[in-house]
Amino acid sequence: MSAFVLTVAQQKGGAGKTTVVAQLAAALHAEGRKVALIDTDPQRSLTHWYDLRREGPGADDDTFLLREASGWRVGVELDRLKRSYDVIIVDTAPHAENEAKAAIRAGQLVLVPVQPSPVDIWATRSTVELAAQEKIPALIVLNRMPARGRLADAMRAQLDKDKLAIAEAVLGNRVSFAASMIEGKGVVESESRGRAAEEIRALAAEVMSRAR
Ligand SMILES: Nc1ncnc2c1ncn2[C@@H]1O[C@H](COP(=O)(O)OP(=O)(O)O)[C@@H](O)[C@H]1O
Ligand SMILES: [Mg+2]
Repeated sequence: MSAFVLTVAQQKGGAGKTTVVAQLAAALHAEGRKVALIDTDPQRSLTHWYDLRREGPGADDDTFLLREASGWRVGVELDRLKRSYDVIIVDTAPHAENEAKAAIRAGQLVLVPVQPSPVDIWATRSTVELAAQEKIPALIVLNRMPARGRLADAMRAQLDKDKLAIAEAVLGNRVSFAASMIEGKGVVESESRGRAAEEIRALAAEVMSRAR
């Protein structure tokens, strides 16, 4: 077994990287996959979420692991974990080009969350370029998207013009994403029948379909 390694990157802060990592991880784990996370962001938001999670039941569950690492240590951790996990997801810091590059290089797919604003789209280009330089495919995840309307249309038009690959699964602007994380959970656990859970499961399926 060798894990599918996914990096979530976006040079812009607040785009939803940590949210996507935690929610995807919870969704994949709920499907019975062994999931490892690597937190490369010095802010350690993902680690805080994971620590909360470990306070609850299942604290000794070694099928859901997190390691903190940065720089060359990311590669070392990956090599160590690859054989024991199905999926490894790497969370990255904003505004850290070299760090992001190393994390992107270590993965097989880069997910780039983008919120519906011009500022986010501009930042996306540089992140996608980093992936292209490393010859790793990048997939845009539209995050906090309004269901329809002018803004959604304009976003898609702009991303299409830039010839960027956009995931079919889209995440809406949903309080439940944040609410679940306050409890160290994902929406698949806290509100498994809700729209947010549906969205994140769809994204998980789409991402894993690329694992072959
Ligand atoms: N789809 C979403 N719906 C609602 N809030 C979201 C969504 N995605 C992210 N957020 C919120 O946006 C903020 C930034 O998200 P975060 O995942 O920390 O971004 P990043 O890791 O890229 O800096 C957080 O407060 C988070 O709860
Ligand atoms: Mg983050």
